[in-house]
Amino acid sequence: MGAASLSTLDAIPRVDLLDGPTPIQRLERIERALGLADRGIRLYAKRDDLMSLGGGGNKLRKLEYHLGGALADGVDTVVSVGGVQSNHARLTAAAAARLGLACELFLARMVPRDGTDYERNGNVLLDDLFNARPSILAPGENALEHANARAQALRAAGHTVLVLPTGGSTPLGALGYARCAREIAQQEAQRGLRFDRVIVPNGSAGTQAGLVAGYAAMGRDTRSVRAYAVLAAEDRARETARDLANAALGLLGKEGTLTAGDIEVDGGELGDGYGVPTDAMVAAVRLMASQEGVLLDPVYSGKAFAGLLRDLRCGVVREGEDVLFVVTGGTPGLFAYREVFA
Ligand SMILES: Cc1ncc(COP(=O)(O)O)c(C=O)c1O
Repeated sequence: MGAASLSTLDAIPRVDLLDGPTPIQRLERIERALGLADRGIRLYAKRDDLMSLGGGGNKLRKLEYHLGGALADGVDTVVSVGGVQSNHARLTAAAAARLGLACELFLARMVPRDGTDYERNGNVLLDDLFNARPSILAPGENALEHANARAQALRAAGHTVLVLPTGGSTPLGALGYARCAREIAQQEAQRGLRFDRVIVPNGSAGTQAGLVAGYAAMGRDTRSVRAYAVLAAEDRARETARDLANAALGLLGKEGTLTAGDIEVDGGELGDGYGVPTDAMVAAVRLMASQEGVLLDPVYSGKAFAGLLRDLRCGVVREGEDVLFVVTGGTPGLFAYREVFA
C-alpha cells in the first residue's frame, strides 16, 4: 500500500503540463485570525493554482491524461464545453495552444448572469487570447450536442477530433487527481506530515473522485477527502463522485467497490445554485486574499473555503487536525464577478 500502489498510473499515456509538484504552504495568518492554535488545528494550502500554463488550475491535471491519450491517437482538434466562465474551457484552450492543436469551445448559459464582465472578461477574454473559438450559446441550448455536431463535421472534413465533456470529468480525467493524491502522500512523507482532511470543491466531481480513487488505492480513508458541492445537489454530487472514482480505480486495474457512504460531500454552500454568489463565499474570498495574499474564485474554491470556515466554526474539524485546502485555481473568474466584490 502507500504511494507505490499507484504505480499503474505511470503506464497510462500522459502529457506533462505542470511544472512538477505544486507547493504546500501553511496558512499561519488565517490560523491566527481564527484562533486555531488553541485547538491544535493547522491549516495548509495545496497550491494547484500555481502552474505556469494558461493561468493554472485543477483542470490541467485532468488534461494531462486527456491530451496525452489524444496525442497518442493523432488528434489535431479538441472541442470542449462548459459554462460561459468555464476554467476547464480556458485551460483546454491554453493546453491546446501549447501542444499545437486547434481548439473550439461551446459555452452554455449555466448561470443566471450577463453583462460585459461576465460575457467578455475573465475566462472568455483568455479563451480568445489562446486562439480557441468560443461560441456562447443561447439560453437552453445544449453545449455537448453542439460540440458533437461540430466534431462530426470536422471529422467529415478529415480531422481527428477529441470531444471533452464538462470539466473534463471522465474516469480518465479523474486520474489526474489520483496522481495528485500520490503527490500529496509523497509531500507528506518528505515533511513528516499526515493530513487528516483534504478539502476540495465538487463541481463536475472529477477532482474529488480522483483524490478518492487515489486514497482508496493507497489504502487510506476516502472520507478524509471532504468536498463542498458547488454545481449539483449533495446526493447527486456524491453519487457522481462515487461512480467516477470506481471507474478510475478500474482504469488502474483495481476493483471499484466504493459506496456513497465512502464519499464525503457537504451541499450547504451551494446557495441559490451554480455560479450564484453567496455572502459566505465573498467573505471567504476576502479572508484568504487579505490574510494570505492568495486568490480564490467566486464559483468553486470560494464556496469550498466558505464551507471549511463553517466546519471550523461548528466543530466538524476536530481538535488537533491537520487540514489541507486544495486551491483549485479559477482566478480569472474574479474579473467576471467584479461587481460582487466592488
Ligand atoms: C477553479 C475550479 N475549482 C474546482 C472545480 C471543480 O472541479 P470538478 O469539476 O472536478 O469537481 C473547477 C471545475 O469545475 C474549477 O474550475
